[in-house]
Order: sequence, then C-alpha cells, then structure tokens
Amino acid sequence: MRIGILTAGGDCPGLNAVIRAVVRCASADNNEVLGFRNGYLGLFENDFELLTRVGVTGILPRGGTILGTSRFDPEKDEQSIPRIKEVWEMHRLSGLIVVGGEGSLSAARDLCRDHALQIVGVPKTIDNDICGTDYTFGFDTAVSTVTDAVDRLHSTAESHHRVMICEVMGRHSGWIAAYGGIAGGADIILVPEHPFRISRVCDLLKQRKDQGRAFSIIVVAEDAHPHPDEDFLTKEQGAAIYRHDRLGGIGEALADEIERCTNLHTRVTKLGYVQRGGSPSAFDRILATRFGVKAYELVRAGQWGQMTALRGTRIVGVPLEAAVGELKRLDEEIYRVAEVFFG
Ligand code: F6P
Repeated sequence: MRIGILTAGGDCPGLNAVIRAVVRCASADNNEVLGFRNGYLGLFENDFELLTRVGVTGILPRGGTILGTSRFDPEKDEQSIPRIKEVWEMHRLSGLIVVGGEGSLSAARDLCRDHALQIVGVPKTIDNDICGTDYTFGFDTAVSTVTDAVDRLHSTAESHHRVMICEVMGRHSGWIAAYGGIAGGADIILVPEHPFRISRVCDLLKQRKDQGRAFSIIVVAEDAHPHPDEDFLTKEQGAAIYRHDRLGGIGEALADEIERCTNLHTRVTKLGYVQRGGSPSAFDRILATRFGVKAYELVRAGQWGQMTALRGTRIVGVPLEAAVGELKRLDEEIYRVAEVFFG
C-alpha cells in the first residue's frame, strides 16, 4: 500500500507527531508513505518526499511541520481537481491522510464525497474550533503560551498600576481566550460568543481600582465584538479589525476606549504567532500521536471519509461530514466559570 499525507492550513504544534506516528505504523506493515509538501499545493505540483522511519527520527518535539503548509484551496481553481487526480494515479495512492483545520477538512470532505478520493482527516488547530472532537492538538500548547504571557503581564501591570490587554488568536471562537484567561487569572475575558459592553468593562476596572487593586488584566479574543448597543468602533476600524482572512487589532481599539472613558493607563500586547510556534506540550504530543495511529488504522481498514476524534478519553473515527461545516463555539459552562472571576 502507498499512502499520501499532507499538512494544510495554519501550522500548529503537534503536526510532526502525527507524521511520525503514521510513518511508524506504515513502515511496520511495509507500506510506503509519501509526504506532499505545502498542503494541497504539493498534491497539485507533485511535490513530495518519501517518508521513512529514519527520516522521521527526532521530529516529535519539533513545532511546525516538516512537510510545510499553505492555504492552497483545491476547490478554488477548476484545474486543481483533475490535476490532483492525475498525481494520485501517477503514484497509485491507496489513500491520503489530510491533517488540517476547518477549511482543509471541508476540502477533504468534498474531495472524498464528490470526487471519490479515498481520504481520512486528522483535525489540528490551536483554535480548538472543530466539531466532532473534544480537543484538537495545538490548543493545549497555545493555552500554555497565553498563560505564561498573562503571568508575565501580571507583574509588570502591578508595578505600573496599569491595565494590560492581551489579545489572543482563536478565529471565531473564544477557546484560547477563555482557557488562557482562566489559567492566567485574567480579570476580564472577552470572547466572540459574548459581545461585550464597554460600559461594563470600564465599571469593572474602576471598581477594582476603588477596591485598591490598581492594575487589571484583560484577555481579548481577536474576534471579540462590542455589543451593537455600545459599539465604539468606527466603520473603518471595524473593517480593519474583522477582516475575513486576517483578524486582529481589537486590543488597540479597546485600549483607546478604556483610556478615554476611565483615564486608566492601558497597554496592549498582541501575542500573535508565538501562539502557533514552539515545541508541543506533552498533552499535544500524545493526542497527535494517538490521532496519527488512528488515522493509519482507518486507512488500513478502508474507512474513507472519516476523521480521527477525541471523545472523552477515547480516540474514535467520526464522519468528516459531521465534523466540518459548523464551528465549535466556546462551551457555555467554561464561559460561566470565567465570568465568576471578572472584576
Ligand atoms: O487558525 C489558526 C490561526 O492562527 C487563527 O487563530 C488565526 O486567526 C489565523 O490562523 C491566522 O492565519 P494566518 O496564518 O493566515 O495569518
């Protein structure tokens, strides 16, 4: 059997652990693994490398992906799918493992359903926003990075009696903000699922000051929005912050508004891509390894159109159809826990 594997979309810690696990399982069965470079683009350009057991030695703790990645969308260009089928036939692939986020897994679902390509999906993203799995790998490492940053911001905020805003990633869901904020002891956490009232944010900050706590930490998700009743963003600011392809900037706008309304000195740290980098946590290494082993089992069993998933403590296969299409928003129970510590 010859299997293909590719990593597509934004990178995250743990991708190499999946690649290693698939190669280790396949080589134990004397099966070949071709690694296509830079996501679906590698399949389109026939850019690949043979992955061997020796070749994947030492990659488990490495961040990023040894295969490279891109946001190339095979469905955008009419010529992509015939070309991908041609490359597939050229290598006589028995199946393909796509390690991707929402967008890449939606493409995998379509290629499998509409073009009869034999694909198994593996969910990855720091955002933890994929339905069908309790957690994606990459998330735990990103949360540790945010927690560490919030811990560090505490000491400088306290020394300078400032409000510190930490803007984090997460796309349209508030998982990273809520988990990182709870773990770091943030005083206010703003997430896309709950549009915030600027008056309440300022009241909480003033209340903390009046109670003798002259510093505050706010964790804000990149897609958090002001409540429409109290929207302080201009049309231009809104358009710049909530761009479809690249979110970011709500922290700065929020800081300006807080200073204007409260006179409290406010500073912003946009954590950005450090959240995606670095060595995976032990949890992410284990989850990614378990996903890789399961993905290989699904391929061997010919269970196409499935995605590996964590359900409770078990790794299972779930239909790609059920896993993509809708984003997994922040769990309300988690938000209620976060709210207990506001102010
Ligand atoms: O999906 C992961 C993620 O890091 C999001 O949190 C963020 O909004 C986006 O990717 C950034 O994407 P890009 O790498 O294209 O700038």
